[in-house]
Amino acid sequence: MEELKKELVRVADLTEGEMKRILARGGVNREGYEKLAEAMEYSVFAGGKRIRPYLCVEFCRAFGGEEQWALAYAAALEFMQTASLIHDDLPAMDNDDYRRGKPSNHKAFGEYTAILAGDALIIESFYAIATNAFCNGDQNARAAELLSFSTGLDGMCGGQQLDLHIEGKACSGEELVKTHSLKTVALMRASAGLGCIAAGANEKQIALADKFASDLGLAFQVRDDILDVISTSAELGKTVGKDAASGKNTYVSLWGLEKAMEYARALSASAAETAREIGGESGKRLLALCEYLLERKN
Ligand code: IPE
Ligand code: IPE
Ligand code: MG
Ligand code: MG
Ligand code: MG
Repeated sequence: MEELKKELVRVADLTEGEMKRILARGGVNREGYEKLAEAMEYSVFAGGKRIRPYLCVEFCRAFGGEEQWALAYAAALEFMQTASLIHDDLPAMDNDDYRRGKPSNHKAFGEYTAILAGDALIIESFYAIATNAFCNGDQNARAAELLSFSTGLDGMCGGQQLDLHIEGKACSGEELVKTHSLKTVALMRASAGLGCIAAGANEKQIALADKFASDLGLAFQVRDDILDVISTSAELGKTVGKDAASGKNTYVSLWGLEKAMEYARALSASAAETAREIGGESGKRLLALCEYLLERKN
């Protein structure tokens, strides 16, 4: 576990360096619209667990790649993740005032700047992929295809639409799994997948990575729902009790805390099984990641 925690911090630092490099773009005069850059940096560099960049870099290494091959992809994933959170917090969506331990983007910069900051970060994520000099054109095209498919209509955006559409309505366990598979799991799968593309992994390796990320990603969202009930705002860095107050459908609202935790445990155990199959140093760290995310407090 100590080894994993060290690696999470190290990969987060490397990814942040990469995001800074990409956003600075060798010095551009942003006079008049500097507030947009400030808003983007405010949320990107506010912390965050950087789980998606970590998955990307770890799977690249697990399958024979060097970590720097995956860093631009890792930056792309974190730009996308941050954008999704800025938009998720907007008054028209979850209407949350607090994120990553600070006022949410629209609270700090106003609504139109927050919308544009999210838009620009989504676009920056494809810029990061297109300009990854450690991968060839074919790899970068495949990476862009995977990220766009996973986050667009039939991925994260579709999932967010479903999440808001079923707010305040009764829904089944199946509908909930479908919502979460799109809104959260798809980006986790893409994170592992981009690492595989950077490494030039084979079909069998890609399938293992995808199985791992599917189970871990769903466990991750179940835990997110649980933390909304059992954690504190100070620990979580975002508002708690918000899901129940907004009539969100969550595993906790559907099944109660105990059964939700049981489900997270089963998913995590399945991911752990895949991590064992992956083996090596990466497999060990991925195994520790399952445990860490299952028990996480923020
Ligand atoms: C929050 O993701 C949104 C969900 C998909 C549940 P994280 O819990 O990974 O948020 P950060 O990136 O660490 O802030
Ligand atoms: C958000 O899910 C998932 C995405 C941002 C795509 P939630 O709405 O549960 O995330 P939090 O709890 O606000 O972080
Ligand atoms: Mg939401
Ligand atoms: Mg939310
Ligand atoms: Mg949540």
